[in-house]
Amino acid sequence: MKGEDIVSAKEKVNIDWENLRFDYIKTDFRYISRWKDGKWDEGELSEDNMLSISEASTALHYGQQCFEGLKAYRTKDGDIQLFRPDENSKRMAVSCRRLLMPEVPEDKFIEACKRVVKANEQYVPPYGTGATLYLRPFVIGVGHNVGVKPAPEYIFCIFCVPVGPYFKGGLAPVNFNVAEYDRAAPYGTGGVKVGGNYAASLLPHEKAVKAGFADCIYLDPLTHTKIEEVGAANFFGITKDNKFITPQSESILPSITKYSLMHIAKEYLGMEVEERDVLVDKLDEFAEAGACGTAAVITPIGGIEYKGKMHVFFSETEVGPVTHKLYDTLCGIQIGDIEAPKGWI
Ligand code: COI
Repeated sequence: MKGEDIVSAKEKVNIDWENLRFDYIKTDFRYISRWKDGKWDEGELSEDNMLSISEASTALHYGQQCFEGLKAYRTKDGDIQLFRPDENSKRMAVSCRRLLMPEVPEDKFIEACKRVVKANEQYVPPYGTGATLYLRPFVIGVGHNVGVKPAPEYIFCIFCVPVGPYFKGGLAPVNFNVAEYDRAAPYGTGGVKVGGNYAASLLPHEKAVKAGFADCIYLDPLTHTKIEEVGAANFFGITKDNKFITPQSESILPSITKYSLMHIAKEYLGMEVEERDVLVDKLDEFAEAGACGTAAVITPIGGIEYKGKMHVFFSETEVGPVTHKLYDTLCGIQIGDIEAPKGWI
C-alpha cells in the first residue's frame, strides 16, 4: 500500500451518526511515517491500529511526544473539506521544536491528512448530522534510550475517528468549577500540545466531574487571579457591550478555533475583539461565555463555580445569542455553507 491513495475497499459502515460521542473506534486506515538517521521516510497507509515500540522509548518515560487535533467535514454536495490543516501543521512544528523532536514538513503533514481522510472516506459523517471525522496526528520519540535525552528515532502517525460532541449535549451550556491545581507553569509547556499537559489534567478533571461539573477552569499559576483554560479548551467571553474577549498568556494552548472565532467575530459579526487578562473575580463583565477548541467546537459556559459561589453567565440551560451566531458561522464555514476566508479550507 506504500505511496498510494487508497479508496477504502471495506464494506459500508453502519454508524448511528446522530448519536456519536467523542469516543474511539477503529477506522480502516492510518498513516505512519518513521524518522531515522536524520530523515523521515515516505510514509504509508496501514490497516494496523497498534504500535510496536521499544520499552525504552522516550515517549513512554519522559513524555517526548506531541499531538494535534483537526477535523474533516462533509459538505452539502458530498465533498469533504479539512479546516485549516496548515495551522495544525505549524502548531505541531512548534511543539516538536520545544521537545527537540524533528518537525514534520507542512506539505508532508497536509498530504498525510488528505490520504487518511480519502482512505477512510466512508467514515466521514454525512452532511447535516453534526458529526465530523476527527484526525489525530502525533509524533512520538521511539527507539532504545534510557538516559534523559532526545530519542534516536521518531514516529509520525495520523489516525481518524468519526465523532460527535465532546461535551454531552453539543451546543448546550455546561458548568465548570475552578481547579485547585495548575495546568501550566510560566515558561513551561502550557503553550504547546504535549501529552504531559493532558496527563496532569486527568485528576483535576475527575474531581470536577465528581463534583458535578463538566470540567474545570485553570487559572494562571503565578497569581491565581486570571482565567487561562477551560479543561482542554480555550475560554472566551462576550462583554455586555458586545466585545469578544479571550485571555492572553504564553501558557495557553493557541487554539486554532479560538483564533478563527476572533476573525469571525471581527469580520463576519462586526464585533470588537481583544486578547487580554480575564479576571476570575470580574466575571460579571460578561453577558455570555464559552469554551472553544477543535473537539469542543463552541461549548457555552452556563456558569463557573469559584470559592463556593456559582457565577451564571447568560443561562444554565439556554444558549446566548452571540454564542449562537459564532457557532453557526464557524460551523457554516466548516461544512461549506458559508464562504470561508481565503486559505481556511
Ligand atoms: C482538541 O480540541 O483537539 C483537543 O486538543 C482536545 C482533545 C485533547 C480532546
